[in-house]
Amino acid sequence: MTPKITVIGTGYLGATHAAAMAELGFEVLGLDVLPEKIERLSQGHSPMYEPGLDDLLQRHVAGLPGSSGRLSFTTSYADAAAFGDVHFICVNTPQRPGEYACDMSYVDAAVDSLAPHLTRPALVVGKSTVPVGSAARLAARLAELAPAGEDAELAWNPEFLREGFAVQDTLHPDRIVVGVTSEGAETLLRELYATPIAEGSPFLTTDMPTAELVKTAANAFLSTKISFINAMAEVCEAAGGDVVRLAEALGHDERIGRKYLRPGIGFGGGCLPKDIRAFMARAGELGAAEALSFLREIDAINMRRRVLMVELTRETVGGSLLGKRVAVLGAAFKPDSDDVRDSPALNIAGQLHLQGAEVTVYDPKAMRNAQAVFPTLRYAATALDAAQGAHAVLHLTEWREFRDLDPAALGDAVTTRHILDGRNTLDPAVWRKADWTYRALGRPTA
Ligand code: UGA
Repeated sequence: MTPKITVIGTGYLGATHAAAMAELGFEVLGLDVLPEKIERLSQGHSPMYEPGLDDLLQRHVAGLPGSSGRLSFTTSYADAAAFGDVHFICVNTPQRPGEYACDMSYVDAAVDSLAPHLTRPALVVGKSTVPVGSAARLAARLAELAPAGEDAELAWNPEFLREGFAVQDTLHPDRIVVGVTSEGAETLLRELYATPIAEGSPFLTTDMPTAELVKTAANAFLSTKISFINAMAEVCEAAGGDVVRLAEALGHDERIGRKYLRPGIGFGGGCLPKDIRAFMARAGELGAAEALSFLREIDAINMRRRVLMVELTRETVGGSLLGKRVAVLGAAFKPDSDDVRDSPALNIAGQLHLQGAEVTVYDPKAMRNAQAVFPTLRYAATALDAAQGAHAVLHLTEWREFRDLDPAALGDAVTTRHILDGRNTLDPAVWRKADWTYRALGRPTA
């Protein structure tokens, strides 16, 4: 019999995973504790902006015209336990306020709420990013709380999706990693992922701690690569080099590669920053703090980018931000997302505002989320509106539409033609030709 699936937590990870499993042909029940989220999803709408996700939901959510009907939603753990053979835990693990460690309360609550209803054999599969060792602890907790006892088994299956590419990454993963303690669990997971495996996605079986570590190690490596090139940007700035040309030249070495070597204002979002901090905290608990002390430097380089961008803005507008008008293009932590969690763009906008500049922000998708976090900034309906009267325009999230901006038209709107490119995706020659001063961290001034 085809196993039935539940997905607990319907954020970026869970909503996408639920829709993707329905797309792969399974009957899926998504669970969230927030009724308003469930209501939106039940109408086929994603709670966040994620390209392709609404289409996928509409193809499968039960009750919608022409849908497969394979995907439904609930707020009830009893319903989830009755429905599913496999339960994916996809809740978030944010940074604990005032600490480096991550907050495991949502994961713990999911297991504690589900387990008492598990009266028949079930596989609970953790997907959330957790400190290594959590899976072993949760497996014991599950066996203790579930009426099915040892027949309620745990596996760990980290997720590597990127926001903005969540649907594609989930349907066509570049690898599938599963931490399992039994052959039965491995067989079941191979059955669930039969389609991507047949397409060529490598399937790797590991012990639990390794599976948990693959995820945190991957995010630590990606953060390191970004901070490495941003450290080179600081050296270029001091030595008069061009970090963009440097990155390009380094990237041709196949051992280094071009990806994740884009210099700029650094990494943000709900994952990389908090994951490296939680990784350091966990290594400390395990007595291996020294092994990850370099991540402290990676974090520091990254956070310094934001300060350096504020300083570059101050210098550009004549030494003081007081009363200066600054247009900020971009609020999301990356393009094709409306996520503003720990967004470098919004953080820089906030710092400029707090230091006396009049900041107007425009983002194609993240305006509502940005306004909720920083209600005191000004917001404009278009890039051109944001630029009205500006003494400097900051390009801080590399949305496609910003690459297509007409420097001449924008030039007519501003007070002074200063463009600061925090993402190095604008063409300096084009802007300079239209009489703008183009500045970027770690690049020559002209
Ligand atoms: C990241 C990882 O890429 C995913 O593999 C992982 O599954 C996910 O975290 C997670 O842990 O859930 P995501 O947060 O969606 O995915 O974003 P990325 O595309 O990795 O970008 C992170 C930040 O780094 C962005 O602010 C981006 O602008 C910045 N970045 C990225 C750079 O500054 N330079 C680069 O070369 C690449």
